[in-house]
This record gives sequence, C-alpha cells and structure tokens, in this order.
Amino acid sequence: MKNLKGAIIGAGIFGSFHARAYSEIPYVETVAICDLNRELAQKVADKFGIANVYTDYNKMLKESDCDFVSAVTPDHLHAQVTIAAANAGKHILLEKPFATKREDILAMKEAITKSGVRAMCDLHNRSSQPYAIAKQTIDSGEVGKVYSMYLRLNDNKSVATDMLSWSADSSILWFLGSHSLDLLCYLCGSRPKTVYALSRAGILKGMGVDTVDMYQTSIEFENGVIAQMENSWVVPNGNTALIDMKCNILCEKGAFNINSSDSDMLRVITEERTTTPNPIARPIINGRVEGFAPNNIRSFIDGLSFGRPFNITIDEAADSCLAILAIMESAEKKQIVEVKY
Ligand SMILES: NC(=O)c1ccc[n+]([C@@H]2O[C@H](COP(=O)([O-])OP(=O)(O)OC[C@H]3O[C@@H](n4cnc5c(N)ncnc54)[C@H](O)[C@@H]3O)[C@@H](O)[C@H]2O)c1
Repeated sequence: MKNLKGAIIGAGIFGSFHARAYSEIPYVETVAICDLNRELAQKVADKFGIANVYTDYNKMLKESDCDFVSAVTPDHLHAQVTIAAANAGKHILLEKPFATKREDILAMKEAITKSGVRAMCDLHNRSSQPYAIAKQTIDSGEVGKVYSMYLRLNDNKSVATDMLSWSADSSILWFLGSHSLDLLCYLCGSRPKTVYALSRAGILKGMGVDTVDMYQTSIEFENGVIAQMENSWVVPNGNTALIDMKCNILCEKGAFNINSSDSDMLRVITEERTTTPNPIARPIINGRVEGFAPNNIRSFIDGLSFGRPFNITIDEAADSCLAILAIMESAEKKQIVEVKY
C-alpha cells in the first residue's frame, strides 16, 4: 500500500464532497485545491486542512507534488482539466459525465493513453448497493441473461433552477443520463448500438433556464438487449426527495425491481413537512461519510494504492458519452440513430 497525495480542481458542491471523502481516508492527504473562486476554495481548504489554494489549475499542477487529481468542474468543463492533469503525469478521478463533446472525448482518451496515467470516471451508481447486488446476481448466472430493462432517473426542478448555476450549459442527459446509461451498460454487459429518443422542452425555459426538460429514450444494445431510459429535470419541487429513480430488469429466468428513490426508504415527518433523506448515497454515520458515493471515491484510491483495476474503464465512460450524443441527435431529428464509436 502507498500513501497518496491528492489535489482537487473545482471546490463547489461536489468538490467539497471529494475533499471530505479524502479527509476520512488515513493514507490520503489532499495537498492543494483550486477554484476560479478563491474564497470558495479557501473555505473548503480551511474546513479540511488543505495547505495550498490556487485559482489556476495549470499553476497548481506545476507546483504541487500530488499523485492524483480530482476533476470536479461543471459537466461541460471536464476536458481541459483532464488533459492538463494527464499531461502533468497525475492520475485522475474525473466526475461524470466523461465529457460532453465528441472532440473532447477523443482528445481526453488520447491524452490519458499517451501519458500512461490511470484515470477513472466517478460513475458511482456502480457502487450503489441494489445495483451492485443485481449485477452480482446476473453475473452468477442464477437469473439467466438480461433480456430488457427500464430505468428512470429524474431530478426535482430545483436542481436545474437553483442548485446548479450551469444547468443551461449542460443537459439532464449529461447530469443524470450519464449515470443511467452507464448503469444500463453495466447491468447488461454491452453498449448501445442504436437509439431513438423523444424530448420535451418549455417548462425550464419558461423559468429562465435554457435547457431541455426531459428525454425518453429507447435503446438497442449490441448484444440484443433492449431498454427504455427516462431522464427528467422537471419533477415538481414538492416531491419529498431530489431524486426519483426506479429500475426493472427482466432476465431470461428472473427479474429485479429496484426502487432507489430517496423517497421510499426513509421518511422523516415533522409537524411542518415530510422529508426523505437518502440513507444509501452519502449519509453521515458515526461522524464519517458513508454510502455508495464515498465508497466509489475510496475504490479509486484503493485502485491506485493496491494496483487494482478500477470498477469502470475509460473506454466505457467515454463510449456512454458518445451514445448520449447519439441520443441528443435522435431527439433533434426524431429518427433512429446508430451510435458512432
Ligand atoms: N452536485 C451534485 O450532487 C453532484 C453529484 C455528483 C456529481 N456531480 C458532478 O460534479 C461536477 C461538479 O458539480 P458541482 O455540483 O460541484 O458544481 P459546482 O458549480 O457547485 O462546482 C463547480 C466548481 O468548479 C469551478 N470551476 C469551473 N471552472 C474552473 C476552472 N477552470 N478551474 C478551477 N475551478 C473551476 C467553479 O468555480 C465551481 O466552484 C459536475 O460534473 C457534476 O455533474 C455533482
């Protein structure tokens, strides 16, 4: 095992979460953090004992002796930081989605391959308890091969209108579709061959956020499995949880019904309202952040420390983004589109 030094690019909601997760791993030290907003970076640095604060990630990569970098910038800004980190010889944990443009996806893959660094995309639903158990059962052969799947992963409107300042530069397909498509690929062990998508827009535009409201996508995988995937950013804010997530997997000799919506596992009811905190994603237990989100970050650290393979390859993360581009093209043209890998 090896002690590791890390650095973080992007000190927002999830960059701060990466800092917390690393602070609770005894053999990891976060030595630097960078954000365009120095005050924000300083606040996270003070909270988690990070010695060096930067506003220029190139300067940080040059001066810092970190072994790895967490890239936690907004969805559409992953390419530059990933390529710079790879060229600086730093291993990378990149937030999802891998990237949002074809040329970025290809350039990032090339930079990672050429530099020889190890990189993982943080598609953390692979570490989510119900999906991991379903995958293990499928792999055991007990239920036969996957035949068809349905997966919906939706957010309340407030995520697009209030939580993310950059939702109009991204899409529900990048923000949540990247998770759901990755899960579908993971569960059936294949990648999309053709896609047909329909979308609706108008609700969020009417609220001042210029992005598509929702996509309904039919997918045929290369191994013949078929799936239906729904991603929406317009669930009413009165929903007790931010996330609405349901999955049905039909296999040749069995099936799985997964309800991983926050709202169906724990209800906290007061005189004023009902809330549904998510007990499996990143709850604080005994003063430490637990659940599948920190576990996936720990799996990256374990991979680096013990030389283990990561739970997702760069090709898998990149390919599902190429498939998302095909889904967007299909919704625009209202035609079946073959994914170009
Ligand atoms: N918010 C969540 O719950 C969540 C969960 C999982 C994954 N993610 C992913 O994490 C990534 C970040 O999301 P977030 O919610 O933390 O967004 P955020 O807006 O809260 O934080 C992003 C930060 O990146 C900084 N930044 C932008 N360009 C930069 C640059 N060139 N150099 C340094 N800093 C720069 C911004 O100033 C901002 O503080 C996204 O890809 C998102 O999809 C978010």
